[in-house]
Amino acid sequence: MQIVRSTRDLRQRLSALRNHSIGFVPTMGALHAGHARLIETSVRETASTVVSIFVNPSQFNDPADFAKYPRTLDTDAALCESFGASIVFAPSVEEIYPQPQQAFVDVARVTEHLEGKFRPGHFRGVATVVMKLFQIVQPDRAYFGEKDAQQLAVIRRMVEDLNVPVEIIGVPTVREPDGLAMSSRNQRLTPAERAIAPLLYQALQLAASRIAQGIRDPESIKQEAESLLTDPGIRVEYLEICDPDFMASVNHIDGPVRIAIAARLGSHESGSVRLIDNVLVTAPRP
Ligand code: PAF
Repeated sequence: MQIVRSTRDLRQRLSALRNHSIGFVPTMGALHAGHARLIETSVRETASTVVSIFVNPSQFNDPADFAKYPRTLDTDAALCESFGASIVFAPSVEEIYPQPQQAFVDVARVTEHLEGKFRPGHFRGVATVVMKLFQIVQPDRAYFGEKDAQQLAVIRRMVEDLNVPVEIIGVPTVREPDGLAMSSRNQRLTPAERAIAPLLYQALQLAASRIAQGIRDPESIKQEAESLLTDPGIRVEYLEICDPDFMASVNHIDGPVRIAIAARLGSHESGSVRLIDNVLVTAPRP
């Protein structure tokens, strides 16, 4: 497996692989079992897999969060190699943004809710860097985790609306045995925060079970789910029942919905860890 730092070098190496399919797994590093599942899936479905490791400054609205983001290139590269990746692309910030960026990708509507509301500019940063990476790698298929369901919806929409020739594959969330969704941020949780973190998934499961039982009123379901999240160490930013394509909250449940949550764990604003999770639920027909 090769570790490549420059776009020029990457393009050169990829030109020898282009007669077969290329899979792409964009990441920000601090890789865990969720990323391993993405790499594994790409390696199974394509001839060569490129993993990018780039902590993208333009998608962080809090510079402290960007600074604190874990950077673990050596162990990340070892994981990529062990799961069969062909190339790790690990560019510097200067390589990706050699000059102040003037062109951006803005995806409307699907970005208006949930993460888009709480993290202004986040999806512009994500869509722009993913578009840049797609132009650099030019993959046949790209793999994204369903844990970031809104990000996946944004990328799907961008690719469709801008005719980007890549197939987007969503890969199911990988969870710890107690249900906590794998995330690079989990390693920043204190033992006390880690102990209460599975409550997020329990709240999602409770909401999903109420839908399965035939309850169709999102408000009553949300209220009951939120009653599991009263621990003072948890601050819920949102718990919403949304339509899966546009991520807007629904008034009545009559088809597939995504139940999405974001919460801060920890008692201090600056020291808290923000976690997100979601589940897709299809309501049974009456
Ligand atoms: O999901 C992530 O890790 C990032 O948002 C991505 C897609 C690699 C873009 O920086």
